[in-house]
Order: sequence, then C-alpha cells, then structure tokens
Amino acid sequence: MSDIPVTKSSLPLFKEYVDEISDIWDSHWLTNMGSKHEKLTSMLEEYLHTPYVSLFTNGHLALENAIESFGLAGEVITTPFTFASTTHAIVRNNLIPVFCDIDPETFTLDPNKLEQLITERTSAIIPVHVYGTVCDTEEIERIAKKHNLKVIYDAAHAFGVEVKGRGIGNFGDASMFSFHATKVFNTIEGGCVTFQDAQLKERLSQLKNFGITGPETVEFVGGNAKMNEFQAAMGICNLHHLKDEISKREKIVNIYRERLEGIPGLKLMAVQEGVKPNYAYFPVVFEGEGWDRDEVVAQLGKHNIFVRKYFYPLVSDYACYSHLENSTETPIAKKIASQVITLPLYADLSLEAAEHICQLIQDLYYTKSKNTQAHMGTTL
Ligand SMILES: Cc1ncc(COP(=O)(O)O)c(C=O)c1O
Repeated sequence: MSDIPVTKSSLPLFKEYVDEISDIWDSHWLTNMGSKHEKLTSMLEEYLHTPYVSLFTNGHLALENAIESFGLAGEVITTPFTFASTTHAIVRNNLIPVFCDIDPETFTLDPNKLEQLITERTSAIIPVHVYGTVCDTEEIERIAKKHNLKVIYDAAHAFGVEVKGRGIGNFGDASMFSFHATKVFNTIEGGCVTFQDAQLKERLSQLKNFGITGPETVEFVGGNAKMNEFQAAMGICNLHHLKDEISKREKIVNIYRERLEGIPGLKLMAVQEGVKPNYAYFPVVFEGEGWDRDEVVAQLGKHNIFVRKYFYPLVSDYACYSHLENSTETPIAKKIASQVITLPLYADLSLEAAEHICQLIQDLYYTKSKNTQAHMGTTL
C-alpha cells in the first residue's frame, strides 16, 4: 500500500474553482472585503447558524483579534492540551495563560478544576473544543457568569458541529474556527470568529484592517488579518461539498470504531449525546499496560502510515512557557498527551486503508500479548 499521510487537504474540482474565481479577472478586486468575501460570510452565517461571522486570513489571527476585541487584562484560563496557537494568542495579547487540567473523558477543559484557578486577575476563559468534542459549555459558562469572565472558545476543530440543533459557534462571547488546509472545511488558510453582539462586528472589521475607522480616520493600532478573495472563493467551492466531505469521514470513523473498540488497552473518545459531529479527528489513547504509544507510531511508520502525536508535548511543556509556575499541574493532560495519537482521517482515505490500519494495530496487540506471555514463561 502507498504512503498514508495523517491528513490530506480536500479540493474542489479544478474547473469549479476556476469558474468561481473567473470574475475576479473582470473586477480586479483581489482583497479588502470584496464580493467573494461577502458571499462566503453570509454562506457561513447560514451554515453555522450564527448571527455574525467575521472572516480572517487564518484561524490564529482570528483568535488573536477576538481576544483583543474584548480589551482583556491579567490572566486567562485555558487548556494545555491544544495546538500552540491557543496559548500564543493569549500571550501575544499581553495576557498570562493559566493552565487548567482536562476532563479524562472529553479531553476538554475540566470545569471542576476551573473555579480554583480564578483570581481577581482573571479576565477570561479560553476553552478548546478539541478534536471537535464539545466542551462542558453549560458549566463553563455558569462559572464564567458568576465571576464576570468572558468566554472565547477555540473551535478550530469544530466547524459544523451542532449541539441539540444549536450551532457550536453560538456558545460563549465568541468562537474561533480555523479553515486551515488540513481542516474539515478549508479556505487554504483562513478562519473566522462567530459572535452574537452586533457591535463586535465593527470592532473586528477595524482590528483586522489596521484600525481604520473611516476614510480619513485611524483610531487605534490594528493589524492586517483580512481574508482575500481567492481564499473566500475556495471556501465557497468547498462549502458546496461539505456534506459529502463529512459523510466520507463518517464512514472511515465507523470502520475505526468497529475494528478498534474491542482491542484491550485502547481508549476511544465516547460519542457525545445530542451532538452532530464533524469527524475532524480520530484520536486513540494507548492507555493499557504494555502499550507504548511511541512504539505504535514507529511500527505504523514502518508501514508508511503516518499518524500524529496530537497533542504532544503539552503547550505548558514548551520551552517558551517553562517560566510559567503551574506548568506541571495538569496530570490528566500530561498522561493523555503521552498516550494519544490521531489516526489518518480525510475524505480521500480509502476504506481499505482504514481497515489496513486497524489490522496493523490489532497485530501489534497480538505481538505485544505474545511477548508479555513469553516474558512470564508461558506460551500462547
Ligand atoms: C486548536 C487550534 N487552535 C488554533 C489553530 C490555529 O488555526 P490556523 O492554523 O487556521 O491559524 C489551530 C490550527 O490547527 C488549532 O488546531
């Protein structure tokens, strides 16, 4: 079998994209909130069932600008079990990240550990719907309300996820989605912020466009984080195929679940009740005795199957955060990070390839059991 990467970007048909961008040659309007940008904005407001969508050139800048738009100060409580971007966006806003441990079942920020981290310096909570798994929004938002804190969700992985029919972008004060090339929905690079407050729309538009507030007025120091017309056109095309994209991913996930569920020592994420998933990632935790996650990565690699230690190391273990006091106080996150991999998952992945991956993991289990028994002086 040929190489199986962990992810592969989905593309529309070449002709479809060319058709979508052809009128850009008539208008010469390449960026700065052109017609593609406006069209994609309304398409996404409808798809995500949110009143407001603000597009950005990537998810990271969407998050940075969302945080900046609330004018926060002091400390922000977040999870260390995430991609660098979540914490970097906090720190690049001159805020101090405080790491909260994760729930052992959902791997999202554990609200039971949240309140003890709140001080008079805390201004916000930034939880992550990691792998598209929904955080305990009810409890997080109850605590946030009690302490008058903002909640900004990093929903980079959760595009299209719904909770009891409610779009996931409607929770908290704002949510950020990533449209990076490797995501369920991509605009090559790209992202957005969703929110309910109409005033935020103007603020975000200004923040991502140099702080320009009028034809001759610049009232504050903004950056440049605008999505261009070619990105928006890619989004328009890809959105037409999203249903198909998700259903192809679902078939692969079903194989992974059916074939891996019974293997001792493996933990799969539980299916969340009332949640419409997007099948963004398929994490497997090798938690049982005798399993060694790094060995699994190496063995699959020998068969040209490239999985990812997603997320390892924890953000709190990055060299750039070694000065933060509480970097070792998240034992659940630490354990999961040392045991987890995400399996290859993308619309183009064949069902045979998914079966093949499961078979190899099954074989690894038998080899491991055989070795353990031999070590104990018994035979199979
Ligand atoms: C959890 C998380 N947050 C933020 C980001 C940043 O998004 P982007 O790559 O679009 O800048 C990513 C990207 O992969 C992510 O996984």
